Amino acid sequence: MAESNLSFILNKPLSLSFEERPKPTLKSPQDVLIAINYTGICGSDVHYWQHGAIGPFVVKDPMVLGHESAGTVVEVGPAVKTLKVGDRIAIEPGTPCRHCTPCLAGHYNLCDDMRFAATPPYDGTLAGFYTAPADFCYKLPEHVSLQEGALVEPLAVGVHIVKQAEIKPGASVVVMGAGPVGLLCCAVAKAFGASTIVAVDIQPARLEFAASFAATHTFMPERVSAEVNAARLLKESGLIGGADAIIDASGAEPSIQTSIHALRRGGVYVQGGMGKPDINFPIMALCTKEITAKGSFRYGSGDYKLAVELVATGKVDVKKLITGTVKFEDAEKAFQDVKAGKGIKVLIAGPNEK
Ligand SMILES: NC(=O)c1ccc[n+]([C@@H]2O[C@H](COP(=O)([O-])OP(=O)(O)OC[C@H]3O[C@@H](n4cnc5c(N)ncnc54)[C@H](O)[C@@H]3O)[C@@H](O)[C@H]2O)c1
Ligand SMILES: [Zn+2]
Ligand SMILES: [Zn+2]
Repeated sequence: MAESNLSFILNKPLSLSFEERPKPTLKSPQDVLIAINYTGICGSDVHYWQHGAIGPFVVKDPMVLGHESAGTVVEVGPAVKTLKVGDRIAIEPGTPCRHCTPCLAGHYNLCDDMRFAATPPYDGTLAGFYTAPADFCYKLPEHVSLQEGALVEPLAVGVHIVKQAEIKPGASVVVMGAGPVGLLCCAVAKAFGASTIVAVDIQPARLEFAASFAATHTFMPERVSAEVNAARLLKESGLIGGADAIIDASGAEPSIQTSIHALRRGGVYVQGGMGKPDINFPIMALCTKEITAKGSFRYGSGDYKLAVELVATGKVDVKKLITGTVKFEDAEKAFQDVKAGKGIKVLIAGPNEK
């Protein structure tokens, strides 16, 4: 394997470049050094590229993009017992402090001092090499490809959201937004035993895909009130009295409002989508229906492990989501395609992948 640590860098909004950076070294005896094979492009990477910031996270210095990666272990620290050189792994891209109150309570995704790939100021994984603690690297079984390994990240997002939604066998669930995250929520809900899964989107092609992937029903909202959309959604999906759980994976205000109206009394609402920070919210319906509303942020204890398991056992076929793979040198073109809404999940190979 070549030794290039070519890195794909966001300098400032709308300014991308390639740079040969020094190969990283292990930061702790528990770390492994990974040659990156494949990386998926996430909406957040595109957002940083376009705007240079997401909420409080502002790109002030050049930053390597990418956080949805799978790679091959090329060096292990002296204290690593679980991995060896040559292992193919999915990389969990956030390293928590392991000492703060949320970390100690087992909710490390809520860590006060998280170092997350491609969330400023931390560099991401679109480079030749990346280091990570061995316990945040998940060995892929032989029959799972490295391309599938790159999809474990968004799948873990879906696992966390669906766990938050408390989906039980026989449950009905509505998923707002049929992008990668919403589609993977549908698939995880199916694996958890949901029997009615309604995918909602404003793009017909995405609904068509959702129906072929994991949804039992699809719904296209109209430009009418949230109450009217909710009533038609329930009628068309045969959900008398409302859905048990509704997940927003769109971030769109109308979806969020429709969700609350389409839930059954006592149902669970999960906010997975990140759109406008403030919206009008049907708080009276939340109150009188005794809805449980929760957030969902990245992934926590056991989510990555379960995501790998769902792929390995064939319960979630992430291969179907892969639109194509581009060479490392074509990363910017791939970013442009994702921005233009082309395909579902584009992977970038390399730069050491041949
Ligand atoms: N909570 C987390 O940890 C986490 C992690 C990753 C992504 N996200 C967020 O999840 C969301 C989905 O991510 P993605 O990668 O699938 O993005 P995406 O943009 O590909 O998908 C969003 C989908 O929502 C649809 N949509 C837009 N307006 C709608 C409306 N009014 N009604 C129904 N559907 C509508 C779009 O057509 C699109 O298909 C994004 O907001 C993203 O920021 C959250
Ligand atoms: Zn992502
Ligand atoms: Zn912590």
